[in-house]
Amino acid sequence: AVMEKGNHRHYMEKEIHEQPIVVAQTLGAYLDPLAETVALPRELPFDLADVKRVQIVACGTALLAGHVASYWIESLARVPVAIENASEYRYRDPVYEPGGLCLFISQSGETADTLAALRHAAAGGQMVAAVVNVDTSTMARETQLLLPTHAGPEVGVASTKAFTCQLSVLAAFAIALGKAKGRVDAAEEARLVHLLTEVPAAMNVALRCEEAIAAMAPTLAKARDILYIGRGPDYPMALEGALKLKEISYIHAEGYAAGELKHGPIALIDEHVPVIVIAPSGPRFEKTVSNMQEVMARGGRVVLISDAEGIASHGQGSMAAITLPTVDPFITPLISAIPVQLLAYHVALAKGTDVDQPRNLAKSVTVE
Ligand code: G6P
Repeated sequence: AVMEKGNHRHYMEKEIHEQPIVVAQTLGAYLDPLAETVALPRELPFDLADVKRVQIVACGTALLAGHVASYWIESLARVPVAIENASEYRYRDPVYEPGGLCLFISQSGETADTLAALRHAAAGGQMVAAVVNVDTSTMARETQLLLPTHAGPEVGVASTKAFTCQLSVLAAFAIALGKAKGRVDAAEEARLVHLLTEVPAAMNVALRCEEAIAAMAPTLAKARDILYIGRGPDYPMALEGALKLKEISYIHAEGYAAGELKHGPIALIDEHVPVIVIAPSGPRFEKTVSNMQEVMARGGRVVLISDAEGIASHGQGSMAAITLPTVDPFITPLISAIPVQLLAYHVALAKGTDVDQPRNLAKSVTVE
């Protein structure tokens, strides 16, 4: 099918704005909103209760979705999770033991490194599951358990809507695994499912930050380097923010765990290196704020991405504050995805780069 951009300047912009709809579609395949239960879509080829550890393998943005999922799986199912990029995984001679589940994540289902790792894990006798957007792809055919995302065709090279659909599936999977392991009871399942059903509406609210982001984009576009920091599941969101920005604006950007800043990168801070702080109010807020204050004390310019409470308490002194809706900490990564995508998009627009077809990158990389 020929994809249309509609009123949007770029596919990427269209795909960012589609997220409330495609995330709702994807969640609809995994949740029963009335019963407030999770149901994996197909008959399972193995028993989730047998899973003793999870190894997540993917590339690029899909890897960062896996990084967020590692927090969900460990906290909800109490199963240890390891995560590795696919190009390294198979060459490390991985240890395969009974009870090992290898979880692959790929928009295209064709990325050569991820596919080779999937085949390696299957040959090694592991349980194999794959979160895939293209349901006719090689990975979708070869995996034992297919966990489809329903993002629809993604045209922009830099992944946006496929990423949040991956997060949606992975959140549902973490709840299902938690149930199978006896760690999530019916009341907790209902609470978590209810939170997920609130995501599309919260994403719609988050999209309203676009004007504020567009207004500061020309300033950020002048930077040569930009740092992103976050804690907990917002740490992978910092990595994703930096990856998106590099991919489409060609500005050098790095994501760091906020607490790691003092172990090196803080040496880079001056008025020329803006720092994007992803800090929704909640259990990690105060600690991230103190890292932000360390940056400000060294003359660093800060953009604070938080909710109304977070900005009211600690927004003073930042060069800009981006207000997100207040949501439960379980779902914050799905919401903070929106401003980091919009920020990359508007900075790229300000720089005049080719947003949908960035130089040197391909939508799907089928070589090693
Ligand atoms: C390429 C794309 C990225 C994507 C990565 C993994 O590098 O440019 O946006 O995240 O491949 O692709 P996959 O299809 O496996 O998710």
